[in-house]
Amino acid sequence: MTQSRRITIFDTTLRDGEQSPGASMNIAEKLEIAQALVALGVDIIEAGFPIASQGDFEAVRQIAESVRGSTICGLARCNDQDIDRAWEALRHAERSRIHVFLATSAIHREFKLKMGKQEIIERAVAGVRRAAGHCPDVEFSPEDAARTEPDFLCEVVEAAINAGATTVNIPDTVGYATPAHMGRVIRTLRERVPNIDRAVISIHCHNDLGLAVANSLSAVEDGAGQIECTINGIGERAGNCSLEEVVMAIRTREDYYHFTTGIATQRLVPTSRLVSNITGIQVQRNKAIVGRNAFAHEAGIHQDGMLKERSTYEIMRPEDVGLAQTDLVLGKHSGRAALGDRVKALGYTLSAEQLQTLFVQFKALADKKKEVYDADIAALIDEEIRETDEMWSISRYTLSAATGAVPKVTLSLKRGDEEATRELSTGDGPFDSLFLAIEQITGIEVVCKDFRVHSVTVGKDAQAEVTVEVAHRGQVFRGRGVSTDSIEASAKAFLNAINRVAAAGGKAAPKVSPYERA
Ligand code: KIV
Ligand code: ZN
Repeated sequence: MTQSRRITIFDTTLRDGEQSPGASMNIAEKLEIAQALVALGVDIIEAGFPIASQGDFEAVRQIAESVRGSTICGLARCNDQDIDRAWEALRHAERSRIHVFLATSAIHREFKLKMGKQEIIERAVAGVRRAAGHCPDVEFSPEDAARTEPDFLCEVVEAAINAGATTVNIPDTVGYATPAHMGRVIRTLRERVPNIDRAVISIHCHNDLGLAVANSLSAVEDGAGQIECTINGIGERAGNCSLEEVVMAIRTREDYYHFTTGIATQRLVPTSRLVSNITGIQVQRNKAIVGRNAFAHEAGIHQDGMLKERSTYEIMRPEDVGLAQTDLVLGKHSGRAALGDRVKALGYTLSAEQLQTLFVQFKALADKKKEVYDADIAALIDEEIRETDEMWSISRYTLSAATGAVPKVTLSLKRGDEEATRELSTGDGPFDSLFLAIEQITGIEVVCKDFRVHSVTVGKDAQAEVTVEVAHRGQVFRGRGVSTDSIEASAKAFLNAINRVAAAGGKAAPKVSPYERA
């Protein structure tokens, strides 16, 4: 029997994932995701890029101070200021890692960094040494490694390991590689870098050609020991290697790969849902593992086969990825215990107090709609239970609209103990006037870039889930709202986005992009 090799899972949802346009998260949300990643069994959490902004620094610091069970990592460019700042944020973690990076490809050297090869090596070595002076766990990434000349890549990697790097990460920064290419890069490093055994080789693939998961698996087959990935594959441009896909490929095809990971796969769907709700980035229906259709069998022949023997058309069991097997319907006569059971089956862990709050919300919902489905419960938990630092909330509104008539709205918002009301008779339609009233009361103007309504479950009485994307001074913010009343859901979503603008200080705090000149 071949002994399985344990692959380290490095999650970068909070750093590379947050680089998805509009995916920025506040500190409370990042903390919540970090806790969920620990419960998922992630080995290393890249919590952010501390020099990027005060908010990023605080998020990494608070995660390092309070989250236990995974190594906490912070990103830094190869300069003293970045590295010292990263360490300041990470120093109280149970286990910390500093991740330093510097681009190495000819294109980046010539056009971005304007540095020669020798200077790149010197900067990389100085960066790794500085980081190693702070903490023993140092990762070095030659950015755009997949497009770097193999000889030079070997030279840089060898120098970084000699300087103290304990992990060397090989990024396919622009998603250019193919599986055979990626495997060859890793093989070359293993064959030609004399000190390669002193470090773990890691792989970090972007998904521009849809190959991030395949490239990561190929790298691991050729000897990489760590995979960098994100929940739902979110990240810069087309995103990163998707954690749930790569982990389930390893688990489902253990017969072929002989690898294992420490991931509690039953937490995949709840974690995916959490990240989607927090970032507002919806998971496409046909997404492998966590998409709504991933375990739905439509064709009659398939359904027939499934009834006879599940393995005819099912290579993974839904319960293994955390999909509750049945969609039991609850109603207004269901008790707290039944609700508690569904909450557990859906993968959430709530305190007694949170369960009580949820129970009250559940009863109110069951009064409005006859049948309460799993998706309704998940939406309630995400909407009502999560702690938010929302500045404004809706007290009440009245709205009238008719064909050919100007809509009329009266809206009252609460901020602390104060209430402000606006009456408007303007706008292109009811939503426009409602959003305008919100802007006038809060004093925050935005450009609405996207507005989507979808039903959480089936039926005319289903809850509406609304997501909006707004732009404010060049930065994108998302908002989400759920209600059986789709107008109220829209107002909640728009106000949620405005509250995020307010939390960012009412202005777009410019971030340092990790891809800017080192
Ligand atoms: O894609 C990339 O090159 C990165 C590095 C910062 C590791 O995200
Ligand atoms: Zn990346």
